Formats: sequence, C-alpha cells, structure tokens
Amino acid sequence: MTALLEAGGTVEHGSGNAPGSSTSASLIYFSSASEYTHRFVRKLGLEAARVPLYTQDETIYAQRPYVLVVPTYGGESGKNSIPRQVLKFLKHEGNRAMLKGVIGAGNTNFGTTYCLAADKIAAKCGVPHLYRFELMGTAEDVVRVKEGLEEFWKRQLKNQQ
Ligand SMILES: Cc1cc2nc3c(=O)[nH]c(=O)nc-3n(C[C@H](O)[C@H](O)[C@H](O)COP(=O)(O)O)c2cc1C
Repeated sequence: MTALLEAGGTVEHGSGNAPGSSTSASLIYFSSASEYTHRFVRKLGLEAARVPLYTQDETIYAQRPYVLVVPTYGGESGKNSIPRQVLKFLKHEGNRAMLKGVIGAGNTNFGTTYCLAADKIAAKCGVPHLYRFELMGTAEDVVRVKEGLEEFWKRQLKNQQ
C-alpha cells in the first residue's frame, strides 16, 4: 500500500476517470467543475482516481482499499451535502467495502456545515474522517495529508498482519 502512495502518479485535468473503469488508486476523489479538490489532489503528487463529473455516467470501481476526498455541497441547511456523483459511487457495495477513510474539502464560510459531507460519509460507513481542508488547501495541508496518508496506510498494513 505504501508503495502505491509513493508511486507518484499524476492526475490529469478533465471530467474524471473513464466511466465504468476500475481503479487501483488508493486515493479517490470527487471534484466539481470548479476543480478546487482536483487542484489539491494534484499537489499531493499521488496516484489518484476521479469520480466522473456527470451523474448520468457509470461510476468507477475501487479495486483496492482507498481514502475518499470529498467536497461538501449542501449550503447552510446541511441537506443533500454529499454530491450525487459520490452517492452513486458509494451505492456500489464493493466501493463501500474498500473505503478506509475520508478527507473533507469545504469552506469555513459555511459554518456548521463545514465539510459535512465527509462527516456524514464517515459516520454512515464507519470509517474515520481523517482531515479537513478549505478549497484547494494550503502548502501545510498538502504536507500534512501526504504524511498522514503514509502513516495511515502503514498502520492499516500492520493491523492486517
Ligand atoms: C452551492 C455551494 C454549496 C456549498 N456548501 C458547502 C457547505 O455546506 N459546507 C462546506 O464546507 N463547503 C461548502 N461549499 C464549498 C465547497 O465545498 C468548496 O468550494 C470546495 O472546495 C469545492 O470543491 P470542488 O471545486 O472540487 O468541487 C459549497 C460550495 C457551493 C458552490
């Protein structure tokens, strides 16, 4: 798993991995047309797969354990905060089974609903909400997430032994 994180694959600009494709990336993310999350993930320099932008497209399928990076899109009411594309991705049992942790993207201007989508997914799927960052993240966020993920996968590996 650590090897995967160190692979340093890049993520391409665009609307997402090919609909219906399987991915061995240990980082999977959704990013809307504004692409803040996409820019953050690109800065990590890790192999990552992007959930298709269009809900009508077939989703992608995780082949290995992964951490999900998800922005919140609910607004202050807190309703429907998980992007539909992510709900569709998580509807697939195999994708839920491989989910090991969540990283939330959001904007603190939204107050109590800051990164709510990640909170909800973490609670529903029984996995930790590992980190929160705003918009495209700061340089410090990038370092903390890179180091945190490396540590996280090492611990996961140890727990399996
Ligand atoms: C309509 C709308 C609603 C949003 N609601 C929330 C929210 O409830 N909580 C939050 O933390 N961020 C909220 N955001 C901020 C986004 O999560 C943030 O801009 C994120 O970086 C978007 O990522 P993306 O560009 O990759 O899609 C909202 C943004 C928009 C445009």
